[in-house]
Amino acid sequence: MEKVVLANDHGAVDLAAAIRKHLESRGFEVCHLGVFTEESVDYPDMAQKAVEEFRRGGYAFGVLCCGTGIGISVAANKMKGIRCALPQNIFAARMCREHNDANFIAFGGRIDYPEPPLAMLDAYIDASFQGGRHARRVEKMMALEGR
Ligand code: RB5
Repeated sequence: MEKVVLANDHGAVDLAAAIRKHLESRGFEVCHLGVFTEESVDYPDMAQKAVEEFRRGGYAFGVLCCGTGIGISVAANKMKGIRCALPQNIFAARMCREHNDANFIAFGGRIDYPEPPLAMLDAYIDASFQGGRHARRVEKMMALEGR
């Protein structure tokens, strides 16, 4: 069974629960690190927890959620080896895997998406990295780390 790590702040409790349920219905084992209530937490802490768990190995990808998806994705992208995408719609969700080889995907619990976020997640899951010229660009992107 493929594993996914999931973490969220208080701005996305309901969305994260829906994502967890959806992932489980698709046959993934989900390591959900919380949070589970609307008591305020800091999104960088949740991003850090998720990335540290991801680095333990065996995860297909990670999902991060906060109010907008912005803070938690920016925080995750500060950590080495992470490419966390924050797609706007189904097309971008597919492309972030095909072109950017995103290993995390983020969503905003307070965002009114033009398409259902669970359909965006499906597009990401069902896509594959295309390699080729995109591999060169991903390598260049990762070479920017720490500069
Ligand atoms: C928390 O209020 C909020 O700032 C957070 O969930 C997220 O939207 C930050 O980017």
